[in-house]
Amino acid sequence: MPLVRLDISHVRNLSSVRFEPSPQVNVIVGKNGSGKTSVLEAIHLLSFGRSFRSHKHKTYIQHENDACIVFAQLHQKQGSPIRVGLQRHRDGQIDVRIQGQRAQSVIELAERLPVQLINPDAFRLLEGSPSIRRQFIDWGAFHFDKDFIQAWRGWQKALKQRNTLLRRGKISLSLLAAFDQELIRLGEQVNQSRKAYVEKLTPHFVKVLSLLTTELSVSLQFFQGWDAQKNLAMAVEAGRERDIELGYTHTGPQRADLRVKTATGDALDTLSRGQQKLVVSALKIAQGQLLIDMGRPLVFLVDDLPAELDANHRQKLCQLLESLNSQIFITSVEPDTTDFTWADTTDVRQFSMTNGELSLLSKGLQES
Ligand SMILES: Nc1ncnc2c1ncn2[C@@H]1O[C@H](COP(=O)(O)OP(=O)(O)OP(=O)(O)O)[C@@H](O)[C@H]1O
Ligand SMILES: [Mg+2]
Repeated sequence: MPLVRLDISHVRNLSSVRFEPSPQVNVIVGKNGSGKTSVLEAIHLLSFGRSFRSHKHKTYIQHENDACIVFAQLHQKQGSPIRVGLQRHRDGQIDVRIQGQRAQSVIELAERLPVQLINPDAFRLLEGSPSIRRQFIDWGAFHFDKDFIQAWRGWQKALKQRNTLLRRGKISLSLLAAFDQELIRLGEQVNQSRKAYVEKLTPHFVKVLSLLTTELSVSLQFFQGWDAQKNLAMAVEAGRERDIELGYTHTGPQRADLRVKTATGDALDTLSRGQQKLVVSALKIAQGQLLIDMGRPLVFLVDDLPAELDANHRQKLCQLLESLNSQIFITSVEPDTTDFTWADTTDVRQFSMTNGELSLLSKGLQES
């Protein structure tokens, strides 16, 4: 179980919050604006190096402070916990430390602290642009395939360079063809990783969704970004003239998408808000479950549990998360919406948040 200690300084209204979370279930209850989401935001920051609420780092650094710091101790199966920390400065500088040593990049944190977020914005995974769904697939492919990140970075670099050339114009077909070899090789590797990942994810997703609701039948379709009958080399070759006309690369893995379908059409067009939330939760839980099955630790952040879900579905969601045996942080405005009966053997810690101050209300295993 990953987080054994958390120390948050100057994230929004959290001047200094230090606590020892349960390795299993943590419930944080408090009024609007008290700072519950900010705790989850701080954990997310430590995993991804960025917030889920805003791309602008200045928004989450506490007013009148130069930097925010999130520090944690991560449990190891063997040996003492690993100390990890992230400091984000107002000028944009980011400082990541692992065991006191400066890390090369935030990716090193993401590997150690995989985090899954289920929040009221979660339906953006269905509603938002394909880039959000690509990020979802790539998160899984990154954790699943150790070669993915290197291929992805190389492919991105080749794509950017190609687009710069195309934008400038005056590039011949033959020069472009010579330039495309690396783009095709790495793009194909990225695509194979994504495809393999979605294939692994799909049966887990179907199973998880059936545990959350028996009323929905939803399928996943991976769109690789070009005609499924062609390999990338063929697609790039066929698209070169058009790319020169357009001034950018119009076909390839940069257009990949995950299409979520019901029997009657796109999930987005047919499902209610609550049903969309169940589908997205199932996607994220399935993704988490795959990682847990590989023996990796995982933290689930569930912000504003009651939003859009009725009591029955809240219970099912909690039950499912509990059964994964991962570390969970749940926030809620009302105490009774998280009043789900956890198993006797589950270590549940209840916290109360008031004006950026966190206090432990109850700790330990559930009384039978
Ligand atoms: N940069 C900042 N510096 C200081 N305070 C901030 C900053 N940004 C936001 N805040 C304040 O910090 C608090 C953060 O609240 P947060 O969103 O974590 O509350 P919450 O308990 O999740 O509320 P809700 O139940 O409405 O979701 C708010 O009161 C907000 O006004
Ligand atoms: Mg909130």
